[in-house]
Amino acid sequence: MTDHNSTDHPVLAAIKQRYSAYQFADKPVEAGKLRSLFEAARWAASSFNEQPWRFIVATKENQAEYEKALSCLVEANRGWAQAAPVLVLAAVKQDFTYNASPNRVAQHDLGQAAAHIALQAAELGLVIHQMAGIDQGKAASTYNLPDGFTAETAIAIGYPAEGDLNDAESKARQRKPFDEFVFGDAWGRASGLF
Ligand SMILES: Cc1cc2nc3c(=O)[nH]c(=O)nc-3n(C[C@H](O)[C@H](O)[C@H](O)COP(=O)(O)O)c2cc1C
Repeated sequence: MTDHNSTDHPVLAAIKQRYSAYQFADKPVEAGKLRSLFEAARWAASSFNEQPWRFIVATKENQAEYEKALSCLVEANRGWAQAAPVLVLAAVKQDFTYNASPNRVAQHDLGQAAAHIALQAAELGLVIHQMAGIDQGKAASTYNLPDGFTAETAIAIGYPAEGDLNDAESKARQRKPFDEFVFGDAWGRASGLF
């Protein structure tokens, strides 16, 4: 697979390959590969090992299920995401199971599981695109989410389309310099590491 990210320092091959795809090949994703993505998510770290993430998966092989998931995306995302053969809705359990107190890092842990999915996908030659742009209320009612769970994000998954990245895909290759986000002895003061 092609590297899409030019890094200043060595990183995993999957990190160099990953990008958020807006275009997908018209090709289903094998069930075995989907299982590997959720296996990767399953082994993410989480606070108190709560594993607060939950995923709803829909593939184009079942059109009714797929349309149900698609209907939970905001219109701007539906436009491009409907090219993806697989859609996933991600939810979190808001409270810790062990003491019923609010889990303030539930979304952090979901993000970590999603990052595992993203990197495992890159490793398998797949592309994904995460979305905040969902209708959370619609997702909750469509899937009858129990109390204490909130729908948070969606993920489009597929194989990359043939050809070059389109403008939207290549635009996102910009990154902040290290001195803007890795600090040393004071907030905003660049770490001497770089
Ligand atoms: C939690 C999350 C929510 C996002 N929401 C959207 C979205 O609703 N629509 C969209 O087009 N892209 C969305 N993105 C993709 C980001 O715009 C993209 O990750 C960013 O521009 C960096 O590009 P890259 O992923 O290709 O490196 C989201 C990404 C994340 C991680």
